[in-house]
Amino acid sequence: MAEGLARAAALVQAARDVVVFTGAGISTESGIPDFRSPGGLWSRFDPRQFTFDKFVASAEARRLYWEMGREVGPVLRRAEPNAGHHAIARMMAAGKVSCVITQNIDGLHQKAGCAAEKVIELHGTAHRVGCLSCTKEWPREEIEGWVEGGVADPRCDACGGMLKPRTISFGQAMPQHETALAFERAAACDLLLTVGTSLVVYPAASLAPAAKQAGARLVIVNLEPTDYDEIADAVVHAKAGEALPRLYT
Ligand code: APR
Repeated sequence: MAEGLARAAALVQAARDVVVFTGAGISTESGIPDFRSPGGLWSRFDPRQFTFDKFVASAEARRLYWEMGREVGPVLRRAEPNAGHHAIARMMAAGKVSCVITQNIDGLHQKAGCAAEKVIELHGTAHRVGCLSCTKEWPREEIEGWVEGGVADPRCDACGGMLKPRTISFGQAMPQHETALAFERAAACDLLLTVGTSLVVYPAASLAPAAKQAGARLVIVNLEPTDYDEIADAVVHAKAGEALPRLYT
């Protein structure tokens, strides 16, 4: 790690405008499992059961979704930012990082002090639930209370529509504004720092080559190798909570 870390730190120090792009790996040290590591969520739940089409088509799929949510919801609410989140918030406060693009739905970047307007949640948030047919929204724990009370398929009390956490599931349309803004910021920065993402889910993963093609440096901090390591200017195979505080002092 030492060699990659020194080079990564030198690139971050020299950068004028760093954009950070995070995935579930930055939150594992906060007790939130990621998806594709051994023991991750997709080793315990079948992702094919959690597509948007299945959710809309089947009451059983929605029951299964809310059942998984009963495990994940409280873990997300109890989770606290870790040293990796705090290091990014410090870099943002110092003006080194202009924006965080995250695939995470846990809100930990904002909880660590990153201004909400500087955090782009590409895959939405698990902390709010919305109606799929109208614009009504609730805090997630309110709807979890309905589910705990025996409502297996919660419906909107205004229009009867299906309720779903405001996360983006496989097959669900990406948020247009956030996606366009993310690619705009990745193309405008002079260094894209990816942290804790396997870079295998698109379109989010294409932020890495898009930034590189626009002339930015690419630094990857991840426990495991990724498909984009070979185009990166620096790669650090380490825990985010250990590497990030040493990237910018
Ligand atoms: N520090 C650094 N890297 C870590 C750490 C850590 N403490 N813990 C795990 N990792 C790495 C893993 O090695 C893995 O490569 O983080 C990566 C997490 O990858 P995924 O589990 O695939 O998560 P992510 O890239 O965010 O997935 C993208 O897939 O299922 C969808 O919508 C979901 O947003 C998610 C998307």
